Amino acid sequence: MSASPAPLFEVRDLRVAFGRHGQFHEAVRGVSLTVAPGEVLGIVGESGSGKSVAMLAALGLNPEGSRVTGSVRFKGQELVGMSRRDLRKLRGSRVAMIFQDPLSSLNPVMTVGAQIAESVLLHNPGLPRRAAMERAAELLALVAIPQPDRRINQYPHEFSGGMRQRVMIAMAVANDPDLLIADEPTTALDVTVQAQIMQVLADLQHRLNLGLILITHDLGVLAGHADRVAVIYAGQVVEQAPVDDLFAQPGHPYTRGLIASIPNMAVEKERLFSIEGTPPALGRLPSGCPFNPRCSQARDICRSAVPPVSGPAQHRAACHFAFEAPATTDSPA
Ligand SMILES: Nc1ncnc2c1ncn2[C@@H]1O[C@H](COP(=O)(O)OP(=O)(O)O)[C@@H](O)[C@H]1O
Ligand code: SF4
Ligand SMILES: [Mg+2]
Repeated sequence: MSASPAPLFEVRDLRVAFGRHGQFHEAVRGVSLTVAPGEVLGIVGESGSGKSVAMLAALGLNPEGSRVTGSVRFKGQELVGMSRRDLRKLRGSRVAMIFQDPLSSLNPVMTVGAQIAESVLLHNPGLPRRAAMERAAELLALVAIPQPDRRINQYPHEFSGGMRQRVMIAMAVANDPDLLIADEPTTALDVTVQAQIMQVLADLQHRLNLGLILITHDLGVLAGHADRVAVIYAGQVVEQAPVDDLFAQPGHPYTRGLIASIPNMAVEKERLFSIEGTPPALGRLPSGCPFNPRCSQARDICRSAVPPVSGPAQHRAACHFAFEAPATTDSPA
């Protein structure tokens, strides 16, 4: 009889705009999301849809000159408008983030152990250095790196891409965060290594009961790993649902396109589906539904009216014809 737990992380109507020639254009256009403690939320969308900009802005890491409005609450505390100093304190302790490119994020002239110890010390300044190094070895073991006592004394170039990404994950969880945001954590890696990294993340998430936001352009990655999924297109969440519902009954044509483009879900492997065209560039939104130029189901209303969000509370989609079976035009009786 328990009500759903209070959200750990709650984003309401987040908007991020970039200025160009004196005009502001929104890259993130009213995103709302929640993550419960211990929950895994997947955010999926093509490159350029606003995934990174939204999450960076939520943590106060938006670039100079950009404009952020809306509300971002972590454990009830408002982050929009919080001082840079307080945000810095929060990041790396209660909230952590992992980025796509593990090589450029590590210092090549510092041992891996020293770098992990540094992130431990940043938030525990009183800790003796030796204890911080012990913690570094512990963290390497936690991300399943063999022989951690030896590995802490090595340099990043002595680690493979997958091992470096494990190091980044170890650093991110060094201070026992409640929320981890992983932005395309496996994109730069080959397929087998991707699967291993996803497993490491899943184990950690489970073990530490982390709230996890998993950002990806590949919906397939979320199948075994997310509890809920938010599909983002042109800076907006166009569909949001528990992962099984999303795959079983996608409500938005864009989601159906993303599902059809997952390699092992395609019926004919040699004819892999891809959604035609590209997402609109910043400031170049079409009228009506932003997806209409690429949508095989578009009708007149789609070019004139912005679709409302509809569907049951757990499963929402922004489409004039959400949850309607796609019309088939190419099948003879
Ligand atoms: N610093 C910036 N200045 C201007 N536009 C930006 C900046 N960063 C990102 N954008 C634009 O914002 C949009 C969303 O980008 P991003 O969030 O990086 O996409 P994703 O992470 O989904 O691939 C893109 O159109 C991108 O060109
Ligand atoms: S509103 Fe129209 S154009 Fe947009 S996704 Fe739905 S059917 Fe396609
Ligand atoms: Mg990105």
